[in-house]
Amino acid sequence: MHGFSENTLKEYKNIVFFTGAGMSAESGVPTYRGMGGIWHQYNWEEYACQQAFDSTPEKVLEFHDLRRQKIFGCKPHAGHYTLVEIEKQHSSVSIITQNIDGLHQLSGSSNVTELHGSIWRVCCDFCQDISLDYGAIYASKVCYKCNRWVRPDIVWFGDRLSTEVLRKVDNIVKKCDLFFSIGTSGVVYPAAGYLYLARSNGAKCIEINPEPTDSSPLFHHCIRGDASVILPGLFQSVD
Ligand code: APR
Repeated sequence: MHGFSENTLKEYKNIVFFTGAGMSAESGVPTYRGMGGIWHQYNWEEYACQQAFDSTPEKVLEFHDLRRQKIFGCKPHAGHYTLVEIEKQHSSVSIITQNIDGLHQLSGSSNVTELHGSIWRVCCDFCQDISLDYGAIYASKVCYKCNRWVRPDIVWFGDRLSTEVLRKVDNIVKKCDLFFSIGTSGVVYPAAGYLYLARSNGAKCIEINPEPTDSSPLFHHCIRGDASVILPGLFQSVD
């Protein structure tokens, strides 16, 4: 019906799945915007930028501890597992995610690039040492090496994205001939620009989202529905 199946995927050389908060919504991770969105409940200026961290680090870390507790109990859904299966069957599949929750990796996907970092890593605000910290709450809120505050190794408002990650993602998107955007409002740059990049390089672009977004008119196809339902349905039906 939508023109895609495991068979059709074989016609494409390089496939990108670009995911946002909506991909994790059905796993129980709140989105940022829209109904129940985090930025409706919390003012990001107080919790998700370097200035807030500089003035009230404990408050910012408590907020992120709450997020960790919430995400720690979340499990991948059928949509995540569909992407794992596609990766097994196709030679070039890349997942680029804005999500910091690690659910793609938890489901078993291996070629995942995290654009906005990970809630499961911390970075010392002083010596920049990065360490893994996977647990419901922070194992330590100060650096093991220099005893200064650690901050979540995620991209906050106003932060620069890593040049290395940006270069890598640019290359992946430029090369793709099939681009899926799943569960993102597409308003945050540079992420929002990847649709333009993919499209201008000739990729077929598909949006999966229950709601239209500002970018919807730019996609070749828009599939309305939840990621956990649409993804398994889309790749199980042979045309
Ligand atoms: N399946 C698919 N899409 C869904 C679902 C679902 N079950 N539920 C909601 N959505 C869609 C919403 O309609 C919305 O368009 O997911 C999108 C979520 O949008 P945002 O909350 O804006 O999340 P995202 O686009 O990932 O935000 C980008 O903003 O604050 C920053 O750093 C944060 O990475 C985040 C970035």
